[in-house]
Parts: sequence; structure tokens; C-alpha cells
Amino acid sequence: MKISIIGAGNVGSTTALRLAEEGVGEIMLVDAANGLARGKACDLEDARALKKCDYRVEGTNDTSAIEDSDIVVITAGLARKPGMTREELLAKNAAIVGDVCRNIKKLAAQAIVVTVTNPLDLMTYLALKVTGFDKNRIIGMGVSLDAARFANLIGRELSVPPSEIEACVIGAHGEGMLPLPAFTSIKGVRLDEFLSDKKVEELLKMTVNRGAEIVSLLGSGSAYFAPSAAAASLVRAIAKDEKRTIGVCAYLDGEYGIKGVCLGVPCRIGKNGIEKIIELDLSAKEKEKLSCAASNLKDLIKQLPAEPSVK
Ligand code: LAC
Repeated sequence: MKISIIGAGNVGSTTALRLAEEGVGEIMLVDAANGLARGKACDLEDARALKKCDYRVEGTNDTSAIEDSDIVVITAGLARKPGMTREELLAKNAAIVGDVCRNIKKLAAQAIVVTVTNPLDLMTYLALKVTGFDKNRIIGMGVSLDAARFANLIGRELSVPPSEIEACVIGAHGEGMLPLPAFTSIKGVRLDEFLSDKKVEELLKMTVNRGAEIVSLLGSGSAYFAPSAAAASLVRAIAKDEKRTIGVCAYLDGEYGIKGVCLGVPCRIGKNGIEKIIELDLSAKEKEKLSCAASNLKDLIKQLPAEPSVK
């Protein structure tokens, strides 16, 4: 199983580390910056004897190295700076992701593509448009990260391990994020049995703002430990055909009454990528919020560079 990771910055290289240590395929790390991917790959290789872990990882600035990949993870692009929204990265990252996707189409036409670059929902849509791949093969990593953040914040509030919390977030990986308390539970017991509406509301706001909070604390760059954990678990679900339900950014073609946009929803993930989109029974208010997130994204889609239409 050949897994290429485009972009050897913090998210890309940490994703490589996680996949390598978990023994999920051979990793090809690619970055346009001369020496960066090779340097990170050498460093990762040097750790093998210490970790007693004989993984295979290579690094290069030559894009043709992605040839015949089974999975390509796109992390290339700029990270936001303190005070920026993810959407403000649109023009610059669309140019980078557009180029990357043209190469994927040429060199790895059978690959499943996992997008991580922001603004995530729009870059996922762009990847679908540029590659022309079937919609099950283009998967955005976004709301599983947001759900992990929601679980962590709930865990801190209640002093319970986040691993016991089943948190659900759908919608955009950005301002249109929709954490769903009604679909969030701790060992099968609904969240509202543990927390007041006011506290839940507070945690929802903290979840939506978590990425920006970390960007502002770091001062330069954005989060990467949790984003890489989310990306690696998505790649593992594909590579090992786990058939797990994970919140991902998927192209909606009528599901949830939404069409023509990529948005975060729970999906069954396996060797064919998105094998099923799970439709949750949302309340009227949740449906309205989701369709509002979709129409905001549709407005932003108009700013993407023109490409042949989606299949
Ligand atoms: C974040 C970036 C990865 O949420 O979007 O931290």
C-alpha cells in the first residue's frame, strides 16, 4: 500500500510519523521546498532503530514520486495566521491544491484522495472538480478533528476520559461547523443528562473556536497533533478497509436535502473511500443550520478557479 503525503510541514510530517509507526503502508513524503521532505524522511528513518519499528518512508521534492499511489493525502498550502479565518486562505491554497490535483489525476489516477488543506470543504470540492474522480474517492478531513476537540472539551469539563465520549460534529470545518449534542453521548448516555444547556452551548462555541484558539496561542502556524491524528485515522480506515463511521467532508448529491457541495457528515469509510453517507435524523433547527452552511459554501465555490464540471 503506497501512501503519498503532499506537504511536509507540521501536519504532513506528523501524519507520516503516525502512519509509519502504526505500520500503515509505505510512505512517500513530497514537498515542493527543496530538501524539506527528504530531510524529514531521513529524520523519521533515523528513529526506526530506536522505536524498533522498520517502517518505510521516503521524501522528495519530485512530484512524479506519487506515481501509482493508493492513497494521496494533501496537506500542502498555507496555514492561517492569528485572527484569520480558514476561508481567507482560499485564493492561495486553491492555486496550490489545484496543481497538486492535476498531478494526482495524471500520475495516480486510481488513488483515493484525502484533503486536509484549508479551507477544507472548498479544497475538497476543488479536488473533486480538478481530478474528476468519483465522489467516493475524494474525502476531506475536518469534522472528525472537530468531534475529537468536542470530546476533549467535554472530557475536561466532566473529568471523564475523552475515549469514552462519542462526539458528533457535522457541517463545515469552519464557521458553519455544527456540533450535535443530541448525537453526542458518554457510554451511551446522552450529553444533556450530564450538562446544562448553558454549559453545552459554551462547549459548542469553544469547539468551533478551538482551531483559532490554537493558532492564536502558537503565534505562528496552526494545530497539527490532532489534525494529523485525524488524517492518519482516516487513512488507516481506508488502507485497512475498516468500514468505520467517521465524520468526513463528502460531496453531497441530495443527502440531507443538499446538492453540489462538499460538507462534513458521518460516512462509512473503507477500501473504496466513502462507502456510505449516513443520514442523521436532524431537528428542523439543525437542518436549517446545515443548509445555511451549504449555501455559504456555494457562494465561496464561485471564487474557485474554473474547471470542467463535477461528475
Ligand atoms: C484546525 C485546522 C487544521 O482546525 O483547520 O486546526
